[in-house]
Amino acid sequence: MLFTTFFATLLLAASSSLAAPINSPQELIVFNPPITSPKASAAWPMGSKQVVRWDIAEIPESRINTTGVILLGHMTDGTDEHLDIEHPLATGFPIKQGFVEVTMPQGIDARDDYFVVLFGDSGNKSPKFKIHH
Ligand SMILES: *[C@@H]1O[C@H](CO)[C@@H](O)[C@H](O)[C@H]1NC(C)=O
Repeated sequence: MLFTTFFATLLLAASSSLAAPINSPQELIVFNPPITSPKASAAWPMGSKQVVRWDIAEIPESRINTTGVILLGHMTDGTDEHLDIEHPLATGFPIKQGFVEVTMPQGIDARDDYFVVLFGDSGNKSPKFKIHH
């Protein structure tokens, strides 16, 4: 019984460190796949499930097993980017999958200058799109 608990704890510790790629940015992707969804015309309701997609045609073989992070951002003062790094929309998904399902947050401001970033060396930003009530 104790033995089992010990291993369960070890497993938990191992999986939670794997599930936190945001703590090791050097492990994130180093190529720049263009985001194909959302498009600039998108209007996604708060709380809705949506699919973020990107082009995997240029994925280098050495990065084929990399996992990614998707963050939601919006513009502040029209020029600065505010990225919500504390509440990633998705983490730990395989980049080679080319898409990941995300849920739009509740209780945020309705704006038409949201964007998502698929994390890589230089940040792959979607066009600005709308999140509404
Ligand atoms: C990716 O993962 C597959 C399956 O585990 C493995 O066979 C392959 O060698 C890995 N490729 C790289 C570049 O790490």
